[in-house]
Amino acid sequence: MTLDDEKRLAAEAAAELVESGMTVGLGTGSTVAHLLPALARRGLTDLRCVATSPATEAQARSLGIPVEEFNTLQRLDLAIDGTDEVTPDGWLIKGGGGAHLREKIVAAAAERFVVIADSTKPVDALRGPVPLELFTFGLSSTLARLGEDVAPRPGSPPSPDGGLIADYRGPGLDDPAALAARLEADPGVAAQGLFPPRLVSEIFVARGGDVERTTIG
Ligand code: A5P
Repeated sequence: MTLDDEKRLAAEAAAELVESGMTVGLGTGSTVAHLLPALARRGLTDLRCVATSPATEAQARSLGIPVEEFNTLQRLDLAIDGTDEVTPDGWLIKGGGGAHLREKIVAAAAERFVVIADSTKPVDALRGPVPLELFTFGLSSTLARLGEDVAPRPGSPPSPDGGLIADYRGPGLDDPAALAARLEADPGVAAQGLFPPRLVSEIFVARGGDVERTTIG
């Protein structure tokens, strides 16, 4: 069983949670890339979906999954997304694909946020880096304030919202709540990639041929 097979298994298990008529948030990344065909195969009706990235939106549309702007729906029944790291108590690091701003907005709007992962994603303790999205207004001053622990991600395109993708490689991951608060306190930070357990409902981790499901909140 390859890692890609594990991603597919976790994604297929999560696709079974979706029912006709639901409002659904679609995440971003190589695991979600398996979710979309699994969802399309379900043949559900009256779905209303929002996408966390242009790539997800394009793939969903190509499979016949309806995607709409996220500006009229106030709540989502379900959101499903991948992760870069997940701890036993449900802290995530997301944003390896630079989509964490929209991913966090979608997760926060969801009644149920389900994380899908292959067996390389669970960690005993967060390792980082922590992805950031920075406003371009005042960017030099923001980077100067954040200091040498933050660097723009080489080769990363601007986010769909025009932000600069950067990464934090510094101390503090042993207390993610404090680090999240510190990063978010800077007015130049549009989003940081630490997702707290209160956002997370369930985690589906595929190991070999099995999918382990953990309820967080
Ligand atoms: C996108 O910005 C990320 O948050 C992804 O959800 C995360 O990096 C997981 O991606 P993979 O499913 O490709 O591992």
